[in-house]
Amino acid sequence: MTADFQNWASDCQAHIEVFLASRLPAIDCIPIRLHKAMRYSVLGGGKRVRPLLAFAAGELVQADKARVTIAAAAVELIHVYSLVHDDLPCMDNDVLRRGKPTCHVEFDEATALLTGDSLQTLAFELLAEKKLSDTPEIQLEMIAQLARASGSRGMAGGQAFDLDSVGKTLSLPELEFMHIHKTGALIRAAVMLGARCSNHLNEAQLKQLDHFAKCIGLAFQVVDDLLDAEATTATLGKTAGKDAENNKPTYVSILGINQARELAQKLQHDAYQALDHFGDNALRLCQVTDFIIQRKF
Ligand code: IPE
Ligand code: IPE
Ligand code: MG
Ligand code: MG
Ligand code: MG
Repeated sequence: MTADFQNWASDCQAHIEVFLASRLPAIDCIPIRLHKAMRYSVLGGGKRVRPLLAFAAGELVQADKARVTIAAAAVELIHVYSLVHDDLPCMDNDVLRRGKPTCHVEFDEATALLTGDSLQTLAFELLAEKKLSDTPEIQLEMIAQLARASGSRGMAGGQAFDLDSVGKTLSLPELEFMHIHKTGALIRAAVMLGARCSNHLNEAQLKQLDHFAKCIGLAFQVVDDLLDAEATTATLGKTAGKDAENNKPTYVSILGINQARELAQKLQHDAYQALDHFGDNALRLCQVTDFIIQRKF
């Protein structure tokens, strides 16, 4: 990880933090418990990989940063909603997230449910309220794209598949389907929404970029599976070893550590290839790709 990338990433992380803090309802705003839980879950933690991807895609097309910030925040809000619900006792039953007690532990289950609901709708409120594209039809398509990525044909569908797979051995195509949906869909949306904040790319280029995003979306979850098996709770800020404990099929349980690591590297290579003809403007996307593969948490 170069110092240049680290500085850029820290700037983006600080920038999105300030924006999210300004758009989440204040804690003295009624209902206080719900608004506290929303701010507790969103602020002060997480790698912000999806915003980093949106900003990197925005740089690829020289998009207006204020527009990309809104797209990045919307995707992060959906992501945090998915984490809050993922941790509930009816799903993964986790007590630690981003180094803190999970939302339902710190507050209660009903509040965690409503926190997820409210973060989801706030995401769409943000996307709908400001001009994100010079073409209104494209902005509508961006809203639809995030909706599809989040719903039953995207993240929520992948989560359903994940719950249904407990205790089962999946085939590789089934496992890939699950990961592409539960994690890949939102990562893909982060890249595409960032890129669509400007009208710079033609259909063929958008397709190419989407292929890149598909590769890193899958790679992201392969690495998440590896870290769950190899890293410690202290570095992850979430309980390590939960996949095995919960009997989840993962790339580690099906391929083993070494082959899962090789797959992540192959996907990194495919991702790089997809960016080939974008030239120097894709530098940040390449760097975020390296971060996704090499990260230790
Ligand atoms: C964790 O996502 C859940 C998955 C989709 C694998 P991240 O690893 O991006 O979590 P944060 O946002 O950094 O906490
Ligand atoms: C979560 O996958 C994917 C979503 C939250 C949509 P995991 O269940 O593996 O995520 P962690 O490991 O709890 O962060
Ligand atoms: Mg899960
Ligand atoms: Mg989980
Ligand atoms: Mg995991």
